[in-house]
Amino acid sequence: MKVLGIETSCDETAVAIVTEDKQILSTVLHSQVKEHMPYGGVVPELASRAHLLFIEGLVEKALDEAKTSLSDIDAVAVTAGPGLIGGVIVGTMVGKGIAAATNKPFIAVNHLEGHALTARLTNDVEFPFLLLLVSGGHCQILIVEGVGKYQLLGGTLDDALGEAFDKTAKLLGLGYPGGPIVEKMAVTGDANKYDFPRPLLDRPGCDFSFSGLKTAVFREVTSQHSALSTQHSEFKNDICASFQRVAGDILEDRIKNAIEIFKNAHPTGETMVVAGGVAANKYLNNRLNTLCNSLKMKFIAPPVKLCTDNAAMIAWAGLERFRLGLIDDLNFEPRARWPLINS
Ligand code: KG4
Ligand code: ZN
Repeated sequence: MKVLGIETSCDETAVAIVTEDKQILSTVLHSQVKEHMPYGGVVPELASRAHLLFIEGLVEKALDEAKTSLSDIDAVAVTAGPGLIGGVIVGTMVGKGIAAATNKPFIAVNHLEGHALTARLTNDVEFPFLLLLVSGGHCQILIVEGVGKYQLLGGTLDDALGEAFDKTAKLLGLGYPGGPIVEKMAVTGDANKYDFPRPLLDRPGCDFSFSGLKTAVFREVTSQHSALSTQHSEFKNDICASFQRVAGDILEDRIKNAIEIFKNAHPTGETMVVAGGVAANKYLNNRLNTLCNSLKMKFIAPPVKLCTDNAAMIAWAGLERFRLGLIDDLNFEPRARWPLINS
């Protein structure tokens, strides 16, 4: 079985073809980073136009690289939300068009379910598993009980972690997207130089709050003393390293609680998965890996290219849904908002 996946919910136009035996026959992508770079973040109207411009060529390229044709595809899976609505509409309409023209099933995939199920494509993870979903727009801890079966343990009360990375990078004039740059700068920084706040630490539950951390970084960067040093890379490296260490402290504390809840609910469950763009971060993954080892949990982070937005994860989530007979109507309306627990 082969499924064609399309992803256009943010600033990546992506198409992939994935098989039931977990082969990624092709995964092609146009990153719009250059288009949005001058604005320091994603401009929705520019994003939709770029999706429209590139999507058709990428579908052809994905078919070519997979050495297949539309007639050999078994189903078409598309990110139908959540995301920037212009982009979601472009991808959904293209997917529906292909499905209608070829008379193939159409599957509306929740972008977050794409991230959530990636580890089943890359690592043979069995249900149930514990999931930390950390991206530019989301920060949640869930128990994944099955396809479309999610129990939310906690989420952010304000900013997503990827957003905090992006804002820190922007404050330091490091460009966009911020996560990879902050991670790189942090390598040579002093992680103990600044002691930023860790809201909710040691409290029960699995909720997050990152706005206090963001504000503290803002204060440090704009303080009179720091303003003089913002040109110095040593200062920037120290801010990045300290920010990342505190982000790690917060994640560790929340995940510790989540593992306890997960083990009580599922005594035989043994895997913790991290997914979403921030799961590309090696420093945070190392810390979570160490924590999981100490609590006798397996820790899995998909390869970096499958953590950040891509279409292989959408094709795979579509394939999992298709196998269960979860097919959608061509009237399915694209959704700007779509909580994972309603997938
Ligand atoms: O999943 P994703 O590609 O798009 C969304 O669905 O939001 O996640 C993008 C987010 C951005 O905030 C980006 O800065 C962050 O993931 N990110 C990282 C890293 N790579 C990407 N954050 C921390 N460290 C990284 N290496
Ligand atoms: Zn994403």
